[in-house]
Amino acid sequence: MSEIDDFINDHEVVICLGAGGVGKTTTAAALAIRAAQIGRRVVVLTIDPARRLADAMGLSGEFGNEPVLVPGPWKGRLWAAMLDSKETLDDLVISNAPDQKQADSILANKLYVNISSTLGGTQEYMASERLLQLHIDPQFDLVVLDTPPSKHAFDFLDSPGRLNRFFDHPLYRSVLMPRKGVLRAVNLATQQAFKTIGQVVGASLVTDAVEFFAAFDGMDEGFAERASETAQLLQAEVTGYAVVTSPRVEALSESKWIISRLGKRRIKPSVVLVNRRHLFSNNPDLKPSSPEAQNLADLVKLSDSEAAGIAEFNKDFNFELVEIPEQAIPVADLSGLDLFS
Ligand SMILES: Nc1ncnc2c1ncn2[C@@H]1O[C@H](COP(=O)(O)OP(=O)(O)O)[C@@H](O)[C@H]1O
Ligand SMILES: [Mg+2]
Repeated sequence: MSEIDDFINDHEVVICLGAGGVGKTTTAAALAIRAAQIGRRVVVLTIDPARRLADAMGLSGEFGNEPVLVPGPWKGRLWAAMLDSKETLDDLVISNAPDQKQADSILANKLYVNISSTLGGTQEYMASERLLQLHIDPQFDLVVLDTPPSKHAFDFLDSPGRLNRFFDHPLYRSVLMPRKGVLRAVNLATQQAFKTIGQVVGASLVTDAVEFFAAFDGMDEGFAERASETAQLLQAEVTGYAVVTSPRVEALSESKWIISRLGKRRIKPSVVLVNRRHLFSNNPDLKPSSPEAQNLADLVKLSDSEAAGIAEFNKDFNFELVEIPEQAIPVADLSGLDLFS
């Protein structure tokens, strides 16, 4: 499929966006396999792959942040990794901390442990951070990124700025800033504020918070720089976007929204993949009254109504759509992911 091959060849980063459940993870894996087939050294970074998909890639067990080589009959090389947000954030802290002691004090902080796994958007933010790390790694010449099953597809693209905004937060500034100057004592007003908060949420949480912000002293610039590099990569020419959709009406309408949001960032998807397409046509050899003919008639009806929905969706865009048929058997091994050859 030359359109897919061109897409893969023309980019160093490929990002699969789409509504939940349409097949982003499956498609990301399939695009990576195609890339390996045409000779690229590709790593696919998946987010929460279904067990079956991990199994299909032969990655049960050891699957994590570190890319694992997936052996297969291709010219190039294929690695697969699964995002570990916590580990990525820990690495970011370690590489930005001025010394091991400061890194340790952050990693051990109760508030940090808590927010690093539960803060909304952390997964999106860490996906973009990990993407940058893999992109820089000379071992790979293409990174294919699956995106989180987020209700808001754009949490991902907005995520690099998240920590910057966090560091701009008045609470952070009020605690940290006085420590940066000559007067390292937390000012009186802040102390008073914390006393009040402490009475509400518990003093130990406040102590953790003060320690947490203090531990980040001097690190905000490093984080901000990293975030702006990530944001640049998401907008760069080497980065291509694939919007994955299903032929269902709701998915098509969400995809329309995703594409228009991308447009606001001056990003046009290079390909739009319509996954799980039912493609059927009438068979004149069947006896019209037979059960088989009845069955087929229903499928042809579905096929036609999907075609109409897709045409309506594409009216304003005129994308060169790539349709991926509904696979009868759920993906069980790598051959089931060979969707683009
Ligand atoms: N072309 C296809 N044919 C049949 N089943 C599919 C196809 N693409 C995806 N699926 C199945 O649909 C489910 C959701 O796919 P997944 O890739 O996890 O979606 P997402 O990552 O967008 O949530 C999985 O069970 C997957 O095996
Ligand atoms: Mg997924």
